[in-house]
Amino acid sequence: MSRTLFVTTALPYANGLFHIGHIMEYIQADIWVRFQRMQGAEVNFVCADDAHGAAITIAADKEGITPQAFVAKIAASRAQYLDGFHIAFDNWHSTDGPENHQLAQEIYRDLRTAGLIETRSVEQFYDPEKRMFLADRFIKGECPNCHAKDQYGDNCEVCGAVYAPTALIEPYSALSGAKPELRSSDHFFFKLSDPRCEAYLQEWTTAPGHVQPEVQNKIREWLYKDAEGKGGLGDWDISRDAPYFGIEIPDAPGKYFYVWLDAPVGYLASLKNLLDRRGEDYAAYMARPGLEQVHFIGKDIITFHTLFWPAMLHFSGRKAPDAVYVHGHLTVNGEKMSKSRGTGIDPLRYLSLGLNPEHLRYYLAAKLSGRNEDIDFNSEDFAARVNSDLVGKYINIASRAAGFLSKRFGGQLAAPDAEGAALLQSLQAAAPAIAALYDGRDTSRALRDVMALADKVNEYVDQNKPWDLAKQQGMDERLQAVCSTCIQAFRLLTIYLKPVLPALAARVEAFLSIAPLQSADAAALLPAGHAIAPYQHLMQRVDPKLLEQLFDAPAPAALAAPAADAHVPGGEPIAATIGIDDFAKIDLRIARIVNCEEVEGSTKLLRLTLDVGEGRHRNVFSGIKSAYKPEDLVGKLTVVVANLAPRKMKFGVSEGMVLAASHADDKTDAGIYVLEPWEGAQPGMRVR
Ligand code: MSP
Ligand code: ZN
Repeated sequence: MSRTLFVTTALPYANGLFHIGHIMEYIQADIWVRFQRMQGAEVNFVCADDAHGAAITIAADKEGITPQAFVAKIAASRAQYLDGFHIAFDNWHSTDGPENHQLAQEIYRDLRTAGLIETRSVEQFYDPEKRMFLADRFIKGECPNCHAKDQYGDNCEVCGAVYAPTALIEPYSALSGAKPELRSSDHFFFKLSDPRCEAYLQEWTTAPGHVQPEVQNKIREWLYKDAEGKGGLGDWDISRDAPYFGIEIPDAPGKYFYVWLDAPVGYLASLKNLLDRRGEDYAAYMARPGLEQVHFIGKDIITFHTLFWPAMLHFSGRKAPDAVYVHGHLTVNGEKMSKSRGTGIDPLRYLSLGLNPEHLRYYLAAKLSGRNEDIDFNSEDFAARVNSDLVGKYINIASRAAGFLSKRFGGQLAAPDAEGAALLQSLQAAAPAIAALYDGRDTSRALRDVMALADKVNEYVDQNKPWDLAKQQGMDERLQAVCSTCIQAFRLLTIYLKPVLPALAARVEAFLSIAPLQSADAAALLPAGHAIAPYQHLMQRVDPKLLEQLFDAPAPAALAAPAADAHVPGGEPIAATIGIDDFAKIDLRIARIVNCEEVEGSTKLLRLTLDVGEGRHRNVFSGIKSAYKPEDLVGKLTVVVANLAPRKMKFGVSEGMVLAASHADDKTDAGIYVLEPWEGAQPGMRVR
């Protein structure tokens, strides 16, 4: 019987663009979904933007736009990444959509009816200037442990201590600088400490197939009490006070769901949105016997998905997930990636340079094992792997055989000889084992097995030497049989690689003049007499120059022509001498460009959102649009004049100035170069 699957990936925060870690997760899930579809499964594969929460409100405030407008802008950026890497979600929605408001409130009401919601008074820091309660990350102060200044409300970045925000010495609001007051407020709690929840989660997390064994081990630490009855799950605070960008809690004016309550509900909301648009019934779909609900997530969000989420669903009378598949994190050339800035590889830059998206899909698939393990993108390894496996082993089979068939036999296949038939049979016999590996997300071993088969085919080619046969008299029949065997083998290998390489497989299907390949097609060969199209090169090697550029700073604009006034540096004389005190008046700081966008109505300006280490963001306009694309700047460090008086411009207030180099005469077309500090500099450091 074929499977019915509802598959999701984690909903990315809508406060930033995709980084390469997001793309890795989508590629892993997309491969699995494509494989299941080739097996005949009916799949709905959905995702959405995670739109709510304090971080997004603040990011939007800084830009002077509503959170809705901010999220819409991020949402509009998604498609180019997804299309570019052949990630085929059936729907992309938002947790701020009407479906999510409705579903989150329904689930909450059902949990309340089940007796699992409780109200409690909570003491919390309040910003009297901004008139709002402050999340831990918006309170700063002196670390109670090592006395480092300006540490966040939940932990110290200097000594690593973890504490409650109320333990900070001389706390201040990172939003206004004001001294926060302790105020009490009623909060809503999901009673996860209820023995019913404990019993259910112990059962759900240990049932076969729900979570990987290595993830079960982690969960055990959170879920089980120790010998003294300590530990175990505590109740979960699911409410936040207004102002908060989120979903209102029913019957509780001024209270909103904490973003992590409504975020996973967004999975259902995106599905419902899809089904509604198709005219299908959501409730009926969810009630379908045998429906499997599968979530792909990263290791940092395990608790939410394996404890809170199954409990929310089960105790609201809904279907719990059938599997939560956890992957590790991606590092790039050994470097860890920070949540906000990403690192190493900008996915859009990868695409715009013209690097092949399927090379990345193949490389990541070759590394992903289906276990919760970190993987590293290593440039050299990447090029070597793609070139030797994909091009050297797989594509090579077709390119060695196809020419002879087209030139000598009108593209027609003959029946394989006995040796060829045995080879093809061994390739076909591998199908169930490869399928099992894909199903278990062990693409690393699946691809290793496929490449071992490709090795066998290449050995067959080396032994039968079609290029020699082609030169010999009376060997036509053998030549056609050998080349036909190669093409049949190539077709079988394409079936096994298609989940990873969908666009390439489509080109192969056109070349072989066949219908889209399904898994079951491996059971049969193409009939003798079938004619293939002339071979056109199917895949290039990794271009080492492009790969190098991927890790370079943005390519400079056109090089300067030698200036006639070469003795005048940069086209302008050095300015009058100043003393060190004059220089000290200029407060230069390292800034992180956390966001960058075009300014509507301006041909010169880009709008930069800068983190200067102040716990708030600055809005700065910079006349660098001719030299940089916004996406080239996001995540980079630069230098800003931090004490320049704010300037009101047509498009808003500019709170500083970014430093950039240029030639005095812009007609020389030498371009503009934003300054970037050497590695290691941190936002807020003074430049002197
Ligand atoms: N918004 C939440 C998820 C809500 S799901 C109901 C969130 N968003 S996120 O944008 O921070 O992360 C989205 C996904 O990307 C998560 O599964 C996370 O684990 C994954 N990754 C973040 N960094 C990653 C790597 N460096 N490598 C691989 N995946 C990474 O968490
Ligand atoms: Zn400390």
